[in-house]
Amino acid sequence: MSKVHAAITAVHGYVPDYVLTNHELETMVDTNDEWITTRTGIKERRILKGEGLGTSDMAVPAVEALLKKRGITAAEIDLIIFCTSTPDRVFPATANILADKIGAKNAWGYDLQATCSGFLFGLATGSQFIESGKHKKVLVVGGDKMSSIINYKDRATCIIFGDGCGAVLLEPNEEGNGVIDSILKSDGSGVDFLHQKAGGSIKPPSHETIDAMEHYLYQEGKTVFKFAVTNMADVAAEIMEKNGLAPDDIAWLVPHQANKRIIDATATRTGVSSDKVIINIERFGNTTNGTLPLCLWEWESKFKKGDNLILAAFGGGFTWGSIYLKWAY
Ligand code: UT7
Repeated sequence: MSKVHAAITAVHGYVPDYVLTNHELETMVDTNDEWITTRTGIKERRILKGEGLGTSDMAVPAVEALLKKRGITAAEIDLIIFCTSTPDRVFPATANILADKIGAKNAWGYDLQATCSGFLFGLATGSQFIESGKHKKVLVVGGDKMSSIINYKDRATCIIFGDGCGAVLLEPNEEGNGVIDSILKSDGSGVDFLHQKAGGSIKPPSHETIDAMEHYLYQEGKTVFKFAVTNMADVAAEIMEKNGLAPDDIAWLVPHQANKRIIDATATRTGVSSDKVIINIERFGNTTNGTLPLCLWEWESKFKKGDNLILAAFGGGFTWGSIYLKWAY
């Protein structure tokens, strides 16, 4: 019997309607369109507006459209892995909340926290349940409402992040398509450079933490950039080498959308030509767990069965990695 791979059989995404442009940011902080564009490649990002709305509210339309496309019901889902750094609540898991909202009555689920590498980690772990034969339909969701933890007075971070969510369905494939290999890495010594200072168990919320604005994302951008630009590029090149893939063998490079300069460095390091590099950072910014599934969603119509895709990401923690998959439809 041929080996069972976990293949993506459907993908869909959702971004909120509100467009926060560089020009609007110019009215909020001391910045300008030219600086943001040349340093990051970002022109605009989406923001989820409205009281009481969280990350799951972006996942619902993405997943409902995905299920419709695939022609299945939510009750057929076995497992939901919700990759996010901005869960609806600290607990219970947003995966459970999503399951309830879409009617996935037969699914169990959990949240996965690996910052910007979360979707890669989710894809890799979700694949194990398919390959082992334990499950037939695994939903991997990646999304963040980054605007809920961004300080719109901090010009170094508020220009980068946006809100958005995407989801893929994993199913067994015996034709040799699906997730072929992954290289995933973590280094907790990176915690100092990208984190949220308060709100967790070492520093629960208090008047003091609010006054000190410690519930916002904190980033030492230059240091994170240095680690990201080398590690994301190296790991993408490593997985290609490990699997005997030359640049011409790659149909699409799907990089995390954190900074256009990091994307370009990854393309250069892997030798994949720029026309095969998926980029939508100019419209969505960095949606953290949302970047990779949103790229897959937007480029879905261009993919062909058997295409070799290399996904790569780097994020806080630090976490980083790469996945090699063959598109299945
Ligand atoms: O996805 C998770 C992982 N995160 C990342 O991969 C992010 C990695 N880091 C980056 O993408 C970049 O470091 C940033 C985009 C955050 C910053 O770009 P940079 O080229 O590293 O700029 P910098 O922090 O070195 O700042 C250069 C100058 C500074 O001014 P001085 O000290 O030279 O006078 C900043 O104060 O640019 C200034 N600056 C700005 N100027 C206009 C910082 N932010 C802004 C701004 N507008 N928004």
